[in-house]
Amino acid sequence: MTASHAVAPFRAIVLAAGEGTRMQSAMPKVLHRIAGRSMVAHVLHALEAAGARDVVVVVGPDRADVADEARRVAPGAVLREQRERLGTAHAVLAARDDIAADNVDIVVAFGDTPLIQPETLARLHGLLGGNVAVAVLGFEAANPFGYGRLVRHGEDLAAIREEKDADEAERAITLCNAGLMALSGAHALSILERIEPNNAKGEFYLTDAVDIARGLGLRAAVTVAPESEVMGVNDRAQLAVAEAEIQRRLRRAAMLGGATLQDPDSVYFSADTRLGRDVTVEPHVVFGPGVTVEAGATIHAFSHLEGAIVREGADIGPYARLRPGADVGAKARVGNFVELKNTVMGAGAKANHLAYLGDGVVGEGANIGAGTIFCNYDGFGKAKTVVGKGAFVGSNSSLVAPVTLGDGAYIGTGSVITADVAPDALALARGRQVEKPGWAAEFRARNASRKK
Ligand code: UD1
Ligand code: CA
Repeated sequence: MTASHAVAPFRAIVLAAGEGTRMQSAMPKVLHRIAGRSMVAHVLHALEAAGARDVVVVVGPDRADVADEARRVAPGAVLREQRERLGTAHAVLAARDDIAADNVDIVVAFGDTPLIQPETLARLHGLLGGNVAVAVLGFEAANPFGYGRLVRHGEDLAAIREEKDADEAERAITLCNAGLMALSGAHALSILERIEPNNAKGEFYLTDAVDIARGLGLRAAVTVAPESEVMGVNDRAQLAVAEAEIQRRLRRAAMLGGATLQDPDSVYFSADTRLGRDVTVEPHVVFGPGVTVEAGATIHAFSHLEGAIVREGADIGPYARLRPGADVGAKARVGNFVELKNTVMGAGAKANHLAYLGDGVVGEGANIGAGTIFCNYDGFGKAKTVVGKGAFVGSNSSLVAPVTLGDGAYIGTGSVITADVAPDALALARGRQVEKPGWAAEFRARNASRKK
């Protein structure tokens, strides 16, 4: 075998033109998310990791939203439109010009099969060669109803029979078509163009490629993957099954990567969550998209993080909320009921309890007291609060942005700060305390005699 044979390039064609009516949704099926990422994005990431030379995404008519998502995730992807929904082979032929342009092999993937792994895609493609012109990914279905059945002929595949076209013996087959198919570049177009809509649904079935290849004296091969990897998502119940499976994978990967998850089943990850070594995650933590936690940090129970970076050794929660743009410095501390949005906290800074810090910068080693609010929004625009290094903000203070506290400044408890404070100064902005000796006792006596 030559080296070029072993690493033959392939073009991926992703079918994403389905309406997904069973989702009962205003949104197209392939844009529904698992682990914070659209299903079609999962498929595109897997194809990229499998080494696809180029990618064609087939979208339905007027589906700018799907096209935008494909462009965002795979900027180099070619977009083709399938104007009428006449079946999976018809959808592949929306990419006819791309297929005709050269003889590169093709791997067809469905946008609603989000758990597919790069190694499986590469293995499927690897079956092509010699006389094998079609390769199909199969799985043993717990409940085969609705799937195309793989009819074998010895080691080879003889045909794929859709549920509606299968006879009783074929319906008893549990080895099913996952929907992913590789076609050799030399034969792809001639096979696809021979497919006719001669079935119960009157559609152009991609699955007929198997039969046709054999008719041309070519072979069809099959490789098997676990059902959990190739399940198709057609409704919200299956969406939840896919979510559970991907969470199981992400939890395992986090633990094998050196993070301690005390109760893995209660922690929810996004596909892009990054945890460093010796990170500890307590129970009931949710990682939305775009979170990085560096080595040695602890995320205490019931915290919610999204679009945030937690630097080395920082301590978050319990019950903390980090929103997009939160950047918590090394060994800094964000305690219970503290919310950060678009705020950078320097190394060793602390906000231990009950605070809202939005659009701010908190200097190294500064201390933010309980009940502090950065008043960043006037109903129209956002403004910035800067707290200098080593500053101390007394409890229950409101810092009305834009405002800057110099390094080492001190804010008296309960202040409403509307003007900048110089370094190392004390600012007090609250009513002065008044004391009237004996007033309470006189008040009680007066009222007690009136009652009689
Ligand atoms: C398909 C397979 C079936 C397999 C199953 C696995 C065919 C004929 N059947 O059935 O053997 O067991 O997947 O999940 O291929 N699509 C388009 N345009 C169309 C039709 C479909 O883009 O005109 C896309 C859909 O968006 C979807 C994919 O192709 O991503 C599969 O279509 P779907 O109708 O879900 O096929 P199944 O009935 O599930
Ligand atoms: Ca399907």
